[in-house]
Amino acid sequence: MPATTLSVENLSAGYGPTRILESISFSVAAGHRLAVLGRNGMGKTTLFATLAGQTRRYEGRILLGETDISSAPSATRARGGLGYVPQTRDVFPSLDVEENLIVGLKNRSKDAIEEAYAMFPRLKERRKNLGSQLSGGEQQMLTTARTILGRPSVLLLDEPLEGLAPVICEELMVAFSGLAASGEMTILLVEQRIQSALDFADEVIVLERGRIAWSGTPAALSADQEAVERLLGVGGLH
Ligand SMILES: Nc1ncnc2c1ncn2[C@@H]1O[C@H](COP(=O)(O)OP(=O)(O)O)[C@@H](O)[C@H]1O
Ligand SMILES: [Mg+2]
Repeated sequence: MPATTLSVENLSAGYGPTRILESISFSVAAGHRLAVLGRNGMGKTTLFATLAGQTRRYEGRILLGETDISSAPSATRARGGLGYVPQTRDVFPSLDVEENLIVGLKNRSKDAIEEAYAMFPRLKERRKNLGSQLSGGEQQMLTTARTILGRPSVLLLDEPLEGLAPVICEELMVAFSGLAASGEMTILLVEQRIQSALDFADEVIVLERGRIAWSGTPAALSADQEAVERLLGVGGLH
């Protein structure tokens, strides 16, 4: 499946009666990279969970390519090409690393697992270890690798660098960029490491209390110190 456009129109969503996201609209072109930034608790994870069909949607539409997936169950969205790496790791604790990866293959051949090992050599070293024996960072890698093996056309990455060593972070960001540049995937990234996110992205949205408070290019955000300070709380990017 090649990369697909993702469009969100006037989306409002939350948990039960609690409204979190209000009137969110944006579009990411096929093969492009969007960074979703904002302080803690501003709704980044809720946005991804809503795209994946795991919250209550009150209004608005979500389009995966030409297909309106707004009301589709999570599993249908996943089969339709939406890959979601949640902020909470999602490994099967009683399966080993290789078995966890096999779950992600869908109908691809087992040889494809080598792609995951090339991207995450650490997982190859630990391929006979159970999910429950992995460190937080390794669980993060495994969740990410398993999702990518399914060849999603749109990939949602919620803080994929959390708990990983800086050198691995750099390698991973390069690998993610490669996936987008090859035209295989459209990627949406939530990341606390703001400079890494800006280096990666074509476009940025910044959430504040469930609304889009800023949108534009990484260069424009870097140049807008007032917005950076107010919305991200960091005193200058380098
Ligand atoms: N399961 C839930 N039920 C009710 N409120 C939630 C739930 N998960 C998150 N929230 C609330 O939604 C808001 C946005 O949280 P979240 O999307 O996790 O933000 P972020 O990812 O930007 O840190 C917060 O006020 C949080 O307390
Ligand atoms: Mg979050």
